[in-house]
Amino acid sequence: MSEPAGPPEEAVAVASAVAGTSTTLEVAAANPLRDPRDKRLPRVAGPCVMVLFGVTGDLAKRKLLPAIYDLGNRGLLPPGFSLVGFARRDWKDQDFAKLTHDAVKAHARTPFREEVWNQLREGIHFVPGEFSDDGAFDALAMALREIDELRGTGGNYAFYLSVPPKFFPVVVEQLRRTGLADAPDGSWRRVVIEKPFGHDLKSAHELNEITNSAFPESSIFRIDHYLGKETVQNIMALRFANNLYEPIWNRSFVDHVQITMAEDIGIGGRAGYYDGIGAARDVIQNHLLQLLALVAMEDPTSFDASALRREKEKVLKAVRLPADLSLNTSRGQYAAGWQGGQKVVGYLQEDGISTDSTTETYAAIKLEIANRRWAGVPFYLRTGKRLGRRVTEVAVVFQRAPHLPFSKDDTEILGQNALVVRVQPDEGITVRFGSKVPGTAMEVRDVSMDFAYGESFLESSPEAYERLLLDVMIGDPPLFPHQREVELSWQILDPIEEFWTTQGQPEPYPSGSWGPPASDAMMARDGRVWRRL
Ligand code: BG6
Repeated sequence: MSEPAGPPEEAVAVASAVAGTSTTLEVAAANPLRDPRDKRLPRVAGPCVMVLFGVTGDLAKRKLLPAIYDLGNRGLLPPGFSLVGFARRDWKDQDFAKLTHDAVKAHARTPFREEVWNQLREGIHFVPGEFSDDGAFDALAMALREIDELRGTGGNYAFYLSVPPKFFPVVVEQLRRTGLADAPDGSWRRVVIEKPFGHDLKSAHELNEITNSAFPESSIFRIDHYLGKETVQNIMALRFANNLYEPIWNRSFVDHVQITMAEDIGIGGRAGYYDGIGAARDVIQNHLLQLLALVAMEDPTSFDASALRREKEKVLKAVRLPADLSLNTSRGQYAAGWQGGQKVVGYLQEDGISTDSTTETYAAIKLEIANRRWAGVPFYLRTGKRLGRRVTEVAVVFQRAPHLPFSKDDTEILGQNALVVRVQPDEGITVRFGSKVPGTAMEVRDVSMDFAYGESFLESSPEAYERLLLDVMIGDPPLFPHQREVELSWQILDPIEEFWTTQGQPEPYPSGSWGPPASDAMMARDGRVWRRL
């Protein structure tokens, strides 16, 4: 079960040593999608097999399979790369290949190229079976051995569990029983688990014990796909590569921080997963608290996994809940309404949802951070489905100037300075500040200064899953939360969830609106408003 710790560069060397028609580096160099000015060594995966459990799920079709193709298209997969699907379907290799092909055609970010697809297709295999079927896992082990011999994948396997958490124990146990979790010398075995990592602190702990029974911590990659987003990583660049913002990034200058993840979609076909989970467990426990950690943490001594995680853990540990949860949290449930010109049903009328469900589809909470940098600065987090539009952003709102040498009329409509990280869509950063309105009077009003990825960079940003799948194959863990972060986040959320269970039905809000009135009231009590998006 030992994990050979190797820097990404090792993977490059190994990749180029694989027997095959061309080395990965040659493939990468010949790839038209690579920027020829980029002189750095590409981070390329070494020889390996990705085993995907849950191949017919939405995530596999919309994100994982297209991301694998996109990596291939960018020349970042080794020539012998193989993809093995495992599912309860009476399928042959070609059936899984067809599903992959269709998913790639429909959802890949980069253009479809026949030669890239053909190379990927050669490595696609399918193993049919139930998770409880020993024979099927024995067949999987045998298939992997054959792939190693045929394609030079060296016994390096990543097992991606894109399955509901109730199946984690049985799959992990099968991987342990068959010896697939144990890496022979010189090879690696890794397991990738998708959120939700449990539904509270206790279950997260149990889930971890199960995973740890087969894989060492260093081989466990917990996916929080927000950390794979360029704009999220850019929070660290913004803060720690510049001298402009960090001096004012503290309680002396910041009034409050708003972290918003608004979605216009409803729950779609995910009733089975979503009901009973709700907005806070679905995205606040992971995505939004990770954003909070990146915004509020101290600078790490480096960006290696242990240094980065240490700083995130410190700040998560310092998070404090307000004393009165009834005044400082709010939850809602979408009712029928209009979205994008279409009439849509309410949550309680969605297929698979019982008419008395108390699951929230909107959640807003106020948190504080008990440390020298942030004492007294509220962090407001909100998320919801079926809101006005899809937008995720982090807004650092600054205090008003201590003195304004203008007449009251001149600055009547001047707001507070703000720095907004636009996570998506329209990725970029906005700085809002006051400026003189042209004319003979000294009238000052808000203007914005914008940085847009699309204007400053030629390349389009990779999808989060491209980055994260590549990191798994390379064995580079900084963008994957550690179990301690997962547990600290549940510690923050558990008391709120417990409180909400005593509160009955969440407040309804019309689809297409900006959430329940209680959420605005929560801000108004603090003399603040949610940003209009
Ligand atoms: C997932 C949640 O983690 O993130 C979904 O389970 C949500 O409910 C999704 O829709 C949103 O991801 P993104 O990348 O589109 O913001």
